[in-house]
Amino acid sequence: MNTEQSKQIISGQQANTVLEGDCIELMRQFRSCSVDFVLTDPPYLAHYCSRDGRRVANDGDATWLKPAFAEIFRVMQRDSFCVSFYGWHQADKFIAAWREAGFRLAGHLTFTKQYPSTERFLRYHHENAYLLAKGNPAQPEQRIPDVLEWKYSGNRLHPTQKPLCVLTPLIQCFSRSGDVVLDPFCGSGSTLLAAKLQGRRFIGIELDRHYSTIARDRLASRAA
Ligand SMILES: C[S@@+](CC[C@H](N)C(=O)[O-])C[C@H]1O[C@@H](n2cnc3c(N)ncnc32)[C@H](O)[C@@H]1O
Repeated sequence: MNTEQSKQIISGQQANTVLEGDCIELMRQFRSCSVDFVLTDPPYLAHYCSRDGRRVANDGDATWLKPAFAEIFRVMQRDSFCVSFYGWHQADKFIAAWREAGFRLAGHLTFTKQYPSTERFLRYHHENAYLLAKGNPAQPEQRIPDVLEWKYSGNRLHPTQKPLCVLTPLIQCFSRSGDVVLDPFCGSGSTLLAAKLQGRRFIGIELDRHYSTIARDRLASRAA
């Protein structure tokens, strides 16, 4: 995708697309205040390697963290929300990046798993996300609890694939029908599919061509 094409997509309000490339560079081409809700699952800075040997790009290097969240903040509408998953052991780095970008920490979500993702000093049975506010967004019409159940996605399409049933209530709560939902670290496109199925418009960005192709195919076929 060349610069001109991605400018057209964003300034023409033609969402429903998956852009391939570095999200910092691509978001720099977006107009400010052009996205209604961001739901994202960035690399956890965990050097993750799945049991079958799959890795996540940029998972060992935090240089992208501050510039990416600065761009996310800029492209979001005034008075809107971002929900970002994050790795608990790098919480300090994530919180510093969010605060520096201008976000207010508005809530913390815990997703409980029936199974441990790893075992070491503890059996690690949960995932985390922060609810981040730009400005002073209105309260949601229907508030959701900050502890929710997780369901295993199977990780067939991506080594850290998020389940649609976890993403859907977040989209329902923090965006409205027709809104533009952005996931700048979209992997296999789970957020985008959940947004599409809820009648939202979506923009995904993914660095790895393998996963951007999976996301596009998935959205085209509507398969979960
Ligand atoms: C945790 S995974 C997201 C998985 C996704 N939630 C799913 O369900 O498939 C994070 C993704 O961000 C991508 N990524 C890492 N750095 C990026 C960057 N600078 N720009 C765009 N994508 C990036 C990785 O390739 C990876 O697919």
